Amino acid sequence: MHTSAKTIRTPILVLETPHSQLVLARRGEVWALAHLGAKCANPADCAALAEARPTGDIQGTASLETYPAFGSDRGNVGDKRGALQARHADGDVSVQWRCAAVRELPAEKGARHVALELVETKHPAFRAVQHFVAWGDCDVFETWVELSNDETGPVELSRMDSFCLEVPGLAEEFHLLSLAGQWGNEANVSESEIARGQEVVLGARSGIHDAWENNPAFFLSVGRRADEETGRVLAGALCWSGAWEIRAQHAFTHELRLNAGVANLSGPYVLDPGLSITLPTFAFTWSEAGKGPATRALHRWARAHRLPHGGALRDVLLNSWEGSRFDFTEKTFTDMMDGTRELGGELFVVDDGWFGLGEFARNDDRHGLGDWFVNREKLPRGMAYLAREARKRGLRFGLWFEPEMANATSALVAEHPDWVLREEGRPLRKGRGGDQVVLDMANPAVRDEIFRRIDAVIRETKGLDYIKWDANAEIFNAGSPYLGPAKQANLWFDYTMGVYELFARLRTAHPAIVFQACASGGGHAEYGFLGFADELWGSDNTCAQQRVFIQWGEELFYPACATACHVTAVPNHQTGRDASLKYRFDVAMSGRLGFELHPKNMTPEEIAFAKRGVEAYKRLRPVVQGGDLYRLVSPYETDRAALLFVSPDRRRAAVMVYGLGRRCNDGRSAALCLPGLNPALRYRVEEINLVESGKGLHVAASGKILGGDALASVGLVYDLRPGDDSFVLELTATRKGARA
Ligand code: DGJ
Repeated sequence: MHTSAKTIRTPILVLETPHSQLVLARRGEVWALAHLGAKCANPADCAALAEARPTGDIQGTASLETYPAFGSDRGNVGDKRGALQARHADGDVSVQWRCAAVRELPAEKGARHVALELVETKHPAFRAVQHFVAWGDCDVFETWVELSNDETGPVELSRMDSFCLEVPGLAEEFHLLSLAGQWGNEANVSESEIARGQEVVLGARSGIHDAWENNPAFFLSVGRRADEETGRVLAGALCWSGAWEIRAQHAFTHELRLNAGVANLSGPYVLDPGLSITLPTFAFTWSEAGKGPATRALHRWARAHRLPHGGALRDVLLNSWEGSRFDFTEKTFTDMMDGTRELGGELFVVDDGWFGLGEFARNDDRHGLGDWFVNREKLPRGMAYLAREARKRGLRFGLWFEPEMANATSALVAEHPDWVLREEGRPLRKGRGGDQVVLDMANPAVRDEIFRRIDAVIRETKGLDYIKWDANAEIFNAGSPYLGPAKQANLWFDYTMGVYELFARLRTAHPAIVFQACASGGGHAEYGFLGFADELWGSDNTCAQQRVFIQWGEELFYPACATACHVTAVPNHQTGRDASLKYRFDVAMSGRLGFELHPKNMTPEEIAFAKRGVEAYKRLRPVVQGGDLYRLVSPYETDRAALLFVSPDRRRAAVMVYGLGRRCNDGRSAALCLPGLNPALRYRVEEINLVESGKGLHVAASGKILGGDALASVGLVYDLRPGDDSFVLELTATRKGARA
């Protein structure tokens, strides 16, 4: 435990954020989670009310224990689950905690960090430390657990959740909103009631693509289904990039049991004596006023405390992938850089295909992964030349890597066949291109070598500003040559911890580099990777119409500054659909704007429009990337989507509206009421991103100065044309507090 930790002896612990409260109360030898919700002036009342909740020893009760375990006799006997299941060195399978101490740990200004030190009553050499942090500048709590084994032999962990909430009497109705999807169709919103007696299990079982099948973040409506502005919502996000499970049970007797943690898919995790592990952070927020505040709280937390470069403004970039794929020369890239500069971009990123030598050259997806050496046949003057060329044009420079994978057809694998995940005596399953394998990230020697190679490329580039970290595989072969026979099931956890260790080393060596989290599109759109990377690539599907849905889903939990959105060519590479450049632009403006095309294929008119669009985006960038998001109209309920971003000082705002195949003369849409503005201010409303200045306005009130109060309660009437039409409004407060 931290040396400057102070021991707390009070019977009640209160952690507070601006609008919520977490109250822990001593209950016998352990602590109970007495309250998570709106602030109560007298937290002792929360403890008294929690004391009165039934936690007896029949099914239909629930432990309020902060970290309940299988075998505890404090309420979960009938249910027998909890957050942890451990088999001790002597074969005993129960855990009953005793809290030996509670400590106050040093925390950032405005935050509070407490830790409960738990000791197993029969095996005091098995211990846990449960941490809770409350952030004073946003409504988010974090919790995580460290487990340590000083028993005489290994302890087997068949359940090792980060978080568990077992509460009776919260509500008689629960609704779970989560994101589900697949390659090219990520982040679809699914929401349904958890019927009485049912348990819903969300999870990702790929080991790598951990945000496709389901995303490890959710909204749970406690009571009736919350909307954007009303209803009680518990929102949570597990910060983990491997296999995971989130379970929400609405017991027949109306207890809520909510668990979130890593998943060991092939057996219990073996924790050797003398070792400790730290389970992933679970971040959560409570809203009394619907889903909107829950989103805004998570976004603020991400910008303030999770993303490595915080809320710093992100560059407008051009990524080479859709513009050139594997087919390029130096000139392709310098031409793209010229185009990037002309468009007003700030960063040029070389995607896949720049590495691998001789027979292993990466000219397709069947060669060279792992051989992180610049291919001088394709790029004779190397990366330093390209980085210099970018600088000459005033651009920053970025590069693509896929650090965790290799091709079977690579010099790396030819030299180190035992560095690949495989099961002894079974055929090696391969992924992308029929040739891709996964490196054994549990093995420190593998990580050392990959670090050495990537670090060398970064250094030789002399000025690398951005790395796209891709991962295009699953754990196809659940075997680690490194872990040895007794610990094969540790793979799921140790692999991801190995990835984090490699990532942390790269970040420490090159702290200024901005990373993008990509895994065949949105496979790493989660807060585990977003603790190391600043942004996510949400989908390889860049079709603007479908991006409206994908970005809507992702921005439920992840902020716009971290959501990369690229304008690409039409017909779209993935869907073959057409869309006007304006529509593609307007859609990409609701996140971190970029391009993924070859500018030389754009017409002079398109270039002119795009230049104005980039200028407008740069003006709106602090509002979109650093502001509060209000969802106004859902694409899941109508034939359009509408979003509002409001700057933290509420003096600026941006509205974006996207039609989705509207029918002709289908009636007028309800006026757009804009919450979140300052009712005492007056705003100039201006439609921007018009194809022709002053023409084709969608909002007749464009150009007017209107009060924040009227904009909130009367709203703006607008016209969307049939098909896929869109518009963007910029709102700027006129004079401080003026009511002219
Ligand atoms: C998958 C990514 O999602 C794409 O954006 C691109 O980087 C390719 N990999 C390159 O192989």
